[in-house]
Amino acid sequence: MIGIIAAMSLEMGHLRTHMNNPVSETISGISFVRGRIGQQEVVTAVCGIGKVFAALCAQTMILRYAPSCIINTGVAGTLTSELSIGHLAVSSCVVQHDMDTSAIGDPVGLISGINVIEIPADKTLISRLCDCANALQIPTLTGCIASGDQFVANPGRKTYIADTFSAIACEMEGAAIGQVCYVNHIPFCVLRAISDSADGSSHMDYPVFSKMAADQSVRLLLAYLNE
Ligand code: ADE
Repeated sequence: MIGIIAAMSLEMGHLRTHMNNPVSETISGISFVRGRIGQQEVVTAVCGIGKVFAALCAQTMILRYAPSCIINTGVAGTLTSELSIGHLAVSSCVVQHDMDTSAIGDPVGLISGINVIEIPADKTLISRLCDCANALQIPTLTGCIASGDQFVANPGRKTYIADTFSAIACEMEGAAIGQVCYVNHIPFCVLRAISDSADGSSHMDYPVFSKMAADQSVRLLLAYLNE
């Protein structure tokens, strides 16, 4: 069974309408819908915005449904001129840009306890998602995706995250899901379509482009699930 997590129903889009025999349940306020897409058993969840909801959702999904892997789909702000609105970012790894214990001597982004900054995504998932993107001719870049409890809409913060972590896109859940998967030894990958430029214009781009971008990510996921 493949686990699919989106933060908002906008990001789950029409994915659930493709499910056969859907069965729903709500746990801790998060709706989980299990069913089949093509030949693939899936469990989907809309977790809510931010790292806490994302972690809560991923851990619950793992304990309740035992997925063989988890994919986080949705939208993101771009951190590089190589990714424009509508393009896809596939995570090679994830980082938490707001994790900072540097005042006591750690490198910024270090996750104490597991002692890593970058959490690697699963190589097989990365290459299969990229192959599907190529087949659909959607421009796609693989790289580090940075998460934090912040909608990035400021050129200074954008540059800081891009430069500090060599990150290509920013969002608010992927690295929390990555951390939960890491400690549970579950393969994961973050797949995000670009909705905005994460700078001074992002508050204007986001409402206009988020739906189109979210649908682009779902389009790729459906191609992957129907493979
Ligand atoms: N999701 C989409 N755009 C984003 C941004 N600019 N910052 C954080 N999360 C996002």
